[in-house]
Amino acid sequence: MIVKIWKGSALATTLVAIPLFIIVFLTLLCLDAIPAYSADGHVLDSRVPADKLAEAKALKSAVPRSEKTILAGKAIFTGKGVCANCHGPEGKGDGPLAASFNPRPRDFTDADDLGWHKARTDGEIFWAISKGTEYGMIPYEDMLNEEDRWALVAYIRSLEKSVVANHK
Ligand code: HEC
Repeated sequence: MIVKIWKGSALATTLVAIPLFIIVFLTLLCLDAIPAYSADGHVLDSRVPADKLAEAKALKSAVPRSEKTILAGKAIFTGKGVCANCHGPEGKGDGPLAASFNPRPRDFTDADDLGWHKARTDGEIFWAISKGTEYGMIPYEDMLNEEDRWALVAYIRSLEKSVVANHK
């Protein structure tokens, strides 16, 4: 009797569990498919809201672009800015937290030749660092001063290895 009941409920559980599992699995699959990383264009789309784009594109660096600025940017990137946690110690988008984001934290070397550097003005990069993005980039305007954020732009630009970009 006890065995029978147990068997009955086990069967019922299995009958519910299997379709439920399939539904959850399909839902997760769909959710993942909608904001897909696969479309390169998505990563290239500006992160600045349309009504602010002209303003952001026109922003000019508050610090001169020099080796000193780049080194200062690098120190912030791997140090107090904790950018490396997500973007990786060399800015390749492979930091320890990278896997939890979609799209992934940007690979600033642009090793895949997406042309990300070409698609952005310095002002748009500065904007993203300052205001963050809806896909998980953190806003830094309250944490890092303007000079620090511009030094980061200089450092990020110095990482570019993309062949596409080199054909500018
Ligand atoms: C908690 C993880 C995390 C940290 C820390 C982080 N980022 Fe990001 N960052 C991301 C993610 C995720 C994206 C991709 C978001 C997207 O596609 O909009 C991104 C995107 C960017 C972009 C690209 C924006 C664009 O227009 O395409 C820039 C520039 C950037 N981060 C700079 C930085 C800098 C500089 C720091 C440190 C001061 C930093 N990030 C720290 C997660 C992080």
